[in-house]
Amino acid sequence: MADLSISFPNSTPFESVAPLINLLHANAIISLNFNFGVFHYMPQTQNRAVMKWLFIFASIVAFLIVFGGFVRLTRSGLSIVEWNPISGSVPPLSHSAWQEEFAKYQKTPEFLKINFNMDLSEYQYIFWIEWIHRFLARLIGLFYAIPVFYFLFKKTIPWKEFGIYFTMGMLFIAQAFAGWIMVASGLVDRPAVSHFNLTIHLLLALTLLSLALWTAFGHKYGFAPANKKVRWSPASKFALVYFVLLVVQISYGGMTAGLKAGHVSDSWPLMFGKLIPPNLFNSFINIFETPQTIVFIHRWFAWLVLFAAAGVFVAARKQKYFSDIKSGLYWLLGAVAIQIMLGIFTILSFVHIALALLHQATAIGLLALGVYFIQRLRLLDSKEI
Ligand code: HEM
Repeated sequence: MADLSISFPNSTPFESVAPLINLLHANAIISLNFNFGVFHYMPQTQNRAVMKWLFIFASIVAFLIVFGGFVRLTRSGLSIVEWNPISGSVPPLSHSAWQEEFAKYQKTPEFLKINFNMDLSEYQYIFWIEWIHRFLARLIGLFYAIPVFYFLFKKTIPWKEFGIYFTMGMLFIAQAFAGWIMVASGLVDRPAVSHFNLTIHLLLALTLLSLALWTAFGHKYGFAPANKKVRWSPASKFALVYFVLLVVQISYGGMTAGLKAGHVSDSWPLMFGKLIPPNLFNSFINIFETPQTIVFIHRWFAWLVLFAAAGVFVAARKQKYFSDIKSGLYWLLGAVAIQIMLGIFTILSFVHIALALLHQATAIGLLALGVYFIQRLRLLDSKEI
């Protein structure tokens, strides 16, 4: 059974009501303490080897996310038309095997409508990019699964703390399915993947990365006690707001990329000669479907992320935190500012591939900083520093 306890600063009659109603409480201090039967989702045991493994795992996931951006920008994602988790790890090895693979691709809408002039060597180029993407994903799967079982077997990870590691494993599997659903959506009728599928694929990867980092930081600095209700300091509240706004901004980035909305205008701050072009918001659906509206939101929502980062900066500078946290604050502010500049240059360059990739990589860095600050500040909250 799930024990979903959410605490509030002042006790209210709501506390006994369903957790969902609690979530709506304006002043909720959320301390989720998941305890699904045998699994605790808040580990307590620290270990250096597990920490190193998780940091390496997170770095490879981050690399794979950026590589995924490269796959998208080189239009390689739809080149392999089948998904065979085991046998698909072997690429074509003979000329006839290549011909066969190319023949399958020639039946896809992408070839028929866009790449009809493509020859075998050009096909091999996009095939290898997508193949490396999938191969790296398989390797990461093994790099996750083998150590996790080893650590469990050795009891380095206590069985009752397996919940968070199990969740990461499930997320990994869900990510593989989401990736395939995304590719499959581009193999019928329209040679393009849905921008929602692309964004879900990106967000799932970022959730996995965040969990891995959160757990790794926990192994490094310590985990907040699971059963203690901890007050949220102003700095950690700002860190949470920063994180939530960042996730919204990244989702809009994913949709911008998925709809190729970065190409609708190559000017900044004006778009089509106007600061606020007409008809952007004349229908609610525009905010999810219309490229011009989506890129407009993405261009300007970034400043809210910057304000939230400034909030963390100001609130945390006032506290007696460790010097590494204080210097991390400059990284946070600097990185958000650089990210905004990169976004602007991506627009001005009409989505230059190197800039777009750097922009995506920096988004990952901003997310990592968000996880770092929430983890560390919440730990200090629990010690009432
Ligand atoms: C905190 C600030 C920002 C964050 C976290 C962020 C994040 C992202 C992310 C995650 C993507 C998707 C990359 C992908 O899936 O390949 C993206 C795409 C994009 N962003 Fe941002 N962004 C920010 C600010 C900006 C700003 C200020 C602009 C322009 C003024 C901008 C312009 C773009 C464009 C044009 C794309 C599409 C690039 C492509 O097609 O590959 N971004 N952004």
